[in-house]
Amino acid sequence: MIDQMGRRIDYLRISVTDRCNLRCIYCMPGEGVSELAHAKILSFEEIVRLVRIMTLLGIRHLRLTGGEPMARRGCLELAKQLHEVPGVASVSMTSNGILLKDQVHQAKCSGISALNLSIDSLDPERYFRLTRGGELSRALCTLHQALEEGMTVKVNAVPVRGMNEEDLTQLARLARTDPVCVRFIELMPIGLGSRAERIPNQEVKRHLDEAFGNPREDTQAHGHGPARYVKYPGFCGAVGFISALSHEFCETCNRVRLTADGRLKLCLNHTKGLNLREMLRSGDSDEEILEAVRKAIAQKPERHAFYETISDHEERSMNAIGG
Ligand code: GTP
Ligand code: 5AD
Ligand code: SF4
Repeated sequence: MIDQMGRRIDYLRISVTDRCNLRCIYCMPGEGVSELAHAKILSFEEIVRLVRIMTLLGIRHLRLTGGEPMARRGCLELAKQLHEVPGVASVSMTSNGILLKDQVHQAKCSGISALNLSIDSLDPERYFRLTRGGELSRALCTLHQALEEGMTVKVNAVPVRGMNEEDLTQLARLARTDPVCVRFIELMPIGLGSRAERIPNQEVKRHLDEAFGNPREDTQAHGHGPARYVKYPGFCGAVGFISALSHEFCETCNRVRLTADGRLKLCLNHTKGLNLREMLRSGDSDEEILEAVRKAIAQKPERHAFYETISDHEERSMNAIGG
């Protein structure tokens, strides 16, 4: 459907859990966070019902996120059920890749065609430190398994000052020999993200240009997200930049989010939304839910307004929102 700013909304990010097996320093505190009680989390039946309703409003592309989606038991079974919903054109997943190792084939068979893997460093020790305990070799193994399965694979890296500056060219180099998109995501001041120092994407790109030469713009569509892509000379894959802070992309935003506890979230940085869990559990009909979703989407905020004082500013961390 089209919102009041004229944007076509056809992409739904579904956070299936707020739990995660890692504790990335810009996302989760070392001791973890208080997790949502099981009863507050939408069941698979509830998620599938909502997706059925939302396809009637033009949602076509689904992305499973978390926390870590694979931390929820049965996540691939959910993917399969969602893939079978009429009107769904694609199901993808964003994961840290650790728990997916050796389940990539099953993920593909469940209808997941594209995988975005969060890997912030290619140095095992720095990766361990950044994720507070992650084993890099497992994430890399998942990456290779996904390529072998012929999935569309992207690597997400968040540059953080004093943490992974040295890794950025090496990460980009993954796109030299393999058909992967390596994307640099500007750290957003959400949750713990506001305590770490962002490296602007212009700075990252300057380093990459020095290392690999002048790139050309890559206008090929890679997925449905806000990244802008370039191709460096001799590279097989593309390098992408998700620059929420320095080049706001809200004007072309195509998405809404469903949090694990059943809130329809209209923008990453706004709490404004709709409590769908309450509607589902108070016996509302499909038609009533559809109308409520239609009204909510029509009022999608114009922009994230990270650096402005807004009344409904998001205070939860990415693990609770789904990125
Ligand atoms: P594809 O490009 O289709 O692969 O999807 P994607 O880039 O949207 O998915 P992914 O989960 O890999 O998203 C990468 C990151 O981009 C997210 O975790 C966010 O940090 C950021 N991002 C995605 N959507 C938005 C958005 O609407 N607003 C902002 N500010 N950032 C977003
Ligand atoms: N800013 C930008 N990206 C973030 N992610 C988690 N927290 C933040 C933040 N504050 C990223 C993860 C993952 C994606 C889902 O979101 O690294 O790649
Ligand atoms: Fe987990 Fe992703 Fe947060 Fe890291 S960034 S702690 S992998 S949810």
